[in-house]
Amino acid sequence: MENRLFFTQPNRLNNDKKRLLQKIEKEREDIGYYNLPKQNINPILEYVEHFNPTINTIVILGIGGSSLGTKAIYEFLKPMQNLKRKLVFFESTDPLNIVNQLKTIPKDKTHFLVISKSGTTVETISVFKYIFSKNRDKKNYTFITDKGSNLEKFARDLGSKLFYLPNNVGGRFSVLSVVGLLPLALSGVEIQNLLNGANGVCESFFNDGKFKDVLLDKALFYAKNHTRFNINCIFAYSETLKYFTEWYVQLWGESLGKKQRHSLFNVGLTPIGLIGPKDQHSFLQLIMEGTRDKSVTFIKVETFQEKLYIPDIHLKHLEALDSLNNIAFHDLITMQCDSVIEALKHENDVPVDEIILPLVDARSIGELIYYYELLTSLVGELLDVDTYNQPGVESGKRILKEKLKNAKHII
Ligand code: PA5
Repeated sequence: MENRLFFTQPNRLNNDKKRLLQKIEKEREDIGYYNLPKQNINPILEYVEHFNPTINTIVILGIGGSSLGTKAIYEFLKPMQNLKRKLVFFESTDPLNIVNQLKTIPKDKTHFLVISKSGTTVETISVFKYIFSKNRDKKNYTFITDKGSNLEKFARDLGSKLFYLPNNVGGRFSVLSVVGLLPLALSGVEIQNLLNGANGVCESFFNDGKFKDVLLDKALFYAKNHTRFNINCIFAYSETLKYFTEWYVQLWGESLGKKQRHSLFNVGLTPIGLIGPKDQHSFLQLIMEGTRDKSVTFIKVETFQEKLYIPDIHLKHLEALDSLNNIAFHDLITMQCDSVIEALKHENDVPVDEIILPLVDARSIGELIYYYELLTSLVGELLDVDTYNQPGVESGKRILKEKLKNAKHII
């Protein structure tokens, strides 16, 4: 993976970079996600090896950090790999969604993964209750939760298989833990390759490799300009990255939108996920001519493992588009992305950078995930927020609890 910044940073920032790096190295001693690329995955591989071969569908009951990362990786790799099991995500209390998804899963060939770090999430537990009321066989469930949670106690009583998340790994930073690795391994993803990709970025950042300066420069730029360029768009030129952008929106939004630790100010950077070329025909106008409050990171795939050409045919009245003939689609999509980058560079006041993924494979998405986790930690440190909590979502939860107490319960 490569990352090129098309905005410049003054050299005088060298001391800022040194200070930031020291803080992150210190943080790495306590925050668990930094070291996930080096974990031992044997327990996960053993579980997968002995897994019932007749199961062809894995349902994930989880939300936010307990599902989005897994979905991002699964949907990225799905078009490329002949995956051996289908993953289905139940992430909503929308009754239409629940009923319709249930219709798509084969009754006797489905296993349910109940994933909740806290073990108390309303969305996850309500849907689990619905499914469990119809199917109470312990063999059909595996639980992933924190040690000591009430969900752990429930799983123990039931006698189902149970995995723990390391307790210093937060929900939205947990995709490279058992939370993501277990379902992905069951679906047939080479999880060691994912971790190898992540480890490459980790080593490069902490050991003077190519990602060190680029990440520090980018984080410093975002933080120093956070009131001016307070919207950060990812413009990814591949349909495979659609759910990656959802994961990014959660990571960036929930980690950085906070009250500062040492002041009363509310700060935050607003994440936007866009997919090219589709969003060239919608959101791009706002970037090109709208308020100068956005930065844009383009993500390109260097080699699509599919060679598809526009045929050399001439269509009456459409002669003006004959220049498309014999062009490969993978070249077309790259040219489209490059043209937008060039147009934005001409504007001169929209900060742009590009990330190039070599292939649609496990290693590339592992790199990209870890790169964004690091960037989030760096920017969070500079914005002076607690990157790893989410107190803002608690008040709504408290009100819901009250409402539930007073709600009509159908008998
Ligand atoms: O990042 C977070 O901590 C949250 O988005 C959680 O992942 C989300 O609320 C789900 O929580 P849990 O895994 O406890 O069910």
